[in-house]
Amino acid sequence: MRLYAAAMTQYQVVTGTETVLRDGTIKLHGPEGFEGMRRAGRLAAEILDALVPMVQPGVSTQELDDVVRQMTLDGGAVPATLGYRGYTHSCCISINHVVCHGIPSDKVLKDGDIVNIDVTPLLDGWHGDTSRMYLVGDVPLKAKRLVDVTHECLMLGIEAASRPGARLGDIGAAIQTYAEAHRYGVVREFCGHGLGRLFHDAPEVVHAGRAGTGPELKPGMFFTIEPMINLGKAGVKVLEDGWTAVTRDRSLSAQFEHSIGITETGVEIFTKSPTGLDKPPY
Ligand code: MF3
Ligand code: CO
Ligand code: CO
Repeated sequence: MRLYAAAMTQYQVVTGTETVLRDGTIKLHGPEGFEGMRRAGRLAAEILDALVPMVQPGVSTQELDDVVRQMTLDGGAVPATLGYRGYTHSCCISINHVVCHGIPSDKVLKDGDIVNIDVTPLLDGWHGDTSRMYLVGDVPLKAKRLVDVTHECLMLGIEAASRPGARLGDIGAAIQTYAEAHRYGVVREFCGHGLGRLFHDAPEVVHAGRAGTGPELKPGMFFTIEPMINLGKAGVKVLEDGWTAVTRDRSLSAQFEHSIGITETGVEIFTKSPTGLDKPPY
């Protein structure tokens, strides 16, 4: 394990077997880490793929959570959210104006809903964190447009990260510029994050900001990009349950998330759907 500082940011080389701490350093992983993340990310994507036919009017979010838990365990992993800071479910399911961290319950999906499902299997010590939007039955055009643009925001963020010499701020700048050109609000209270052996690690990957700022992206960095984009204003609040985040103006909100690794030549997306089901229509 090696520590070095570049400007204000500390990077730490991780070989894959040692204990890593949430000490504010940005971890730089080697081939073993990439292999671990590939496997965890693939399982995560397969779980989201399997949910496609199940996300229908009449299904409860608890039933979907049960499927996520079972598929995660069958895949030899555990849901990283189970027991995380007191959270007792295997995924987050966020409907319509819920921005993120919706708690599975007996609530039933209905025609016209837009739904985010966010899963994080922990497989052999590596976290695969990803989420997608699902359309329930017939969804109004303006909601479908929000979902499309949000996916484009994620992919533009990934593109920005894959350019040589990219800095962390380039990601948020790309996302914010595109979302605001559509007059959508970019949520500021939640961000992407480093991950790997840890679920939530440095750096914080914000979805709005200035190009050319922040730490330089280096090969071996693993992090998520997970923009939350609101049809209305950017403001959010967290409900009494301490988890469920909703838009203050009750406008619809959408989110997509991938876990990625920086390579010598660009970016590897660990959580791409093996069957091309990365976004609706499925
Ligand atoms: N998967 C979420 C993320 O993208 C975190 C969920 S933590 C939970 O970072 F406890 F709310 F499940
Ligand atoms: Co995440
Ligand atoms: Co997630």
